[in-house]
Amino acid sequence: MSGKDPAVIVNFKVYSEIEGEKALRLAEICDSIAQETGANIVVCPPMVELSYVADSVDIPVYSQNVDPRKPGSGTGFTTPSLVKSAGASGTLINHSEHKQPAEDVGACVQMCKDLGLATCVCADTIEVAKDLARFSPYYIAVEPPELIGGDISVTTANPGIVSGTVEAVKSVDRDIKVLCGAGVKNGNDVKTAVDLGAEGVLLASGVTKAANPDAVIRDLIKYI
Ligand code: G3P
Repeated sequence: MSGKDPAVIVNFKVYSEIEGEKALRLAEICDSIAQETGANIVVCPPMVELSYVADSVDIPVYSQNVDPRKPGSGTGFTTPSLVKSAGASGTLINHSEHKQPAEDVGACVQMCKDLGLATCVCADTIEVAKDLARFSPYYIAVEPPELIGGDISVTTANPGIVSGTVEAVKSVDRDIKVLCGAGVKNGNDVKTAVDLGAEGVLLASGVTKAANPDAVIRDLIKYI
C-alpha cells in the first residue's frame, strides 16, 4: 500500500507557493528525486489540485483530508471515493489544522481501508495518538501544534513526544507506522526522527516555502 521506510510526506497545505501549476512543479521535483534515489516521498496537494498532480507523477499522492461521507448529497464535502477517483492512493486525516471528532476519524479510516486508500492520521499528543491507534490507520503522525510552521524541529524541541508516541501506538497496534512532524527542515531532523523510532516524517513549510525545494528534499533524504 505504501513504499519503504522511512517515508517523507510533504503536505503542501494551502500555501500561495503551491497554488495552481506550482503544485505540479513541486510534485514533479519530489517525483524526480524519488525515482532517482529510491526514497519514499509522498505529496499532499490541495484538493483542487489533487487530480492533475496524481495524473502527472508516479509517487504516492495523498489528499489533505477526507470527510466520513458516502457518495450522494453532501455539497462541499470530500468523500474517500472522490479522492480515490482523483487518483490519490491515500489521505491525511485529522490534521491539527483540520481536526475531526475521534469517531469520525475512525469512520474515515474504515471507509478508506474499504477503498484501498492509505491513511495518515494526525495527533497532537501521545494520548491522542494512542487513542486513535484503535482504528489501526496505516500511519499515525504526531505533531505538537505549537511547533508547526516554526524553525525548531519536534525532534529537537520535544524528542520525548516522538519516542513516547512510538511506544504508545505500538502498544496498541505494532503494525501502525509512526511519523513525526512540526518544524522538520533537514536531513539531521529526519535522522533523529528515525533514531527516536519514527518510520518517517510529515512536513510542510520546510519544503513548500523553500527557495530551492530540490536542494531541501535532497538534504532531507541524505541519511536514508
Ligand atoms: O502537515 C505537516 C505540518 O503540520 C508540519 O508543518 O511547516 O512545521 O513542517 P511544518
